[in-house]
Amino acid sequence: MSHVVESLRVVPLRAEVRRTSQIGAEVILPPSMKQLDFGGLSDGEKATLRSGLFDSGVLVVRNQQGLDPNVMPQIGRFFDETAWDTHSGGEKMVTDSKNILSKNRGARVPRAPQVSIIGKGHWTGYEGLPDLDLKHVSHTEFHETPCTTGKLDEGFTRPYRWHMDASLYERLPGFVTSLHSIKNPVLPDQKLRFPSGEVMPISAGATAFYSGARAFELLSTEEKEFALNTTVQYAPRAYEWMLNCKATDDGMTIARSGQEKKLEDLPEWSWDKVHAFPRLGKTGNSAENFHLAQMVWRNHGNGKPHLQVLGCCVYALRTTNPATGEVTVTDNLDEVRGICHKLTRKVYTPENIYAHRWQEGDLVIFHNRGVLHSITGELSRPSGDSDPEKRLFWQCTMASGTAPVAYQAAG
Ligand SMILES: [Fe+2]
Repeated sequence: MSHVVESLRVVPLRAEVRRTSQIGAEVILPPSMKQLDFGGLSDGEKATLRSGLFDSGVLVVRNQQGLDPNVMPQIGRFFDETAWDTHSGGEKMVTDSKNILSKNRGARVPRAPQVSIIGKGHWTGYEGLPDLDLKHVSHTEFHETPCTTGKLDEGFTRPYRWHMDASLYERLPGFVTSLHSIKNPVLPDQKLRFPSGEVMPISAGATAFYSGARAFELLSTEEKEFALNTTVQYAPRAYEWMLNCKATDDGMTIARSGQEKKLEDLPEWSWDKVHAFPRLGKTGNSAENFHLAQMVWRNHGNGKPHLQVLGCCVYALRTTNPATGEVTVTDNLDEVRGICHKLTRKVYTPENIYAHRWQEGDLVIFHNRGVLHSITGELSRPSGDSDPEKRLFWQCTMASGTAPVAYQAAG
């Protein structure tokens, strides 16, 4: 009698969950494998996992309680053989209060220093660390016109800030980010309201995603042409630069200019380390091209075009006329942000957003260069031991040795 060995499978999430988002699949491990173990996968299973990620953007592996944190850096290397051995945010957690990324008061796992600890609430002696006081950032601190107290009481929240995990300075963004849920809030659903007036229930603390492929698909022919011929100059030390800025209601970009830090007031920086277009008047050497930030990236797996723009960090745009080669630089911040917002906001509709409803033990792996993601949720009451908002997650995204590849339309 033949013996059938069940293999790893990647199963797209139900159609009513995915809708038109192009996002979401569940990884069913072989029955003999309780926790993700790359060493135990065949070449065929590895290929299934790779194509699943690049096609569905977000992979969910359930019931990964007790996961060794060192598996998370391995995930980075599995999808990107050029991944460095360091988190793309740097060797240590950002703790400088001048940097907007320090607001979560996160830490790193001592036995896996590439893995960040994020969440909400007091944690004593976790992983042998001194007391942690984790903070779940709220849109109320970052949006220009946040939800009113009345709306917050009704359970409304917003996407805090859409982004890829990318320092935009020195280190290139990882191909993937992994998130592991150790403790979830025990709270009723919260809600997102969209510009159309539609309301979508989401779980408290859901991570929201949209696909850059879907965002590109929604552009008009003219917008696609513009995006394909435009590169983005990000701000130097973008997360310090935007510390005092306030975002639009959808979390896509900054609402108005005027609050940016002066470039001379930023920590030491140089243009050659900023992710940017090659400077005008230069032919572009390899060091500059390494940091080239095109607007439309080619999916490393299936080759599709993805609109990948961090609208809160943009500084200038450089658009080439394909017929004449003439270059137009747009460096008025309000105009730059307005252009990016016009392109990206089309995807902010319920059917194009996937908000992951976390279960404890979930390991979520997402294609950081193919989707944009955002924190959601209002978890901001003072924390005690019985706090129903308590949340604890691991996060890992490894800096890459490979630059994003610009998508080039055929013909
Ligand atoms: Fe992130």
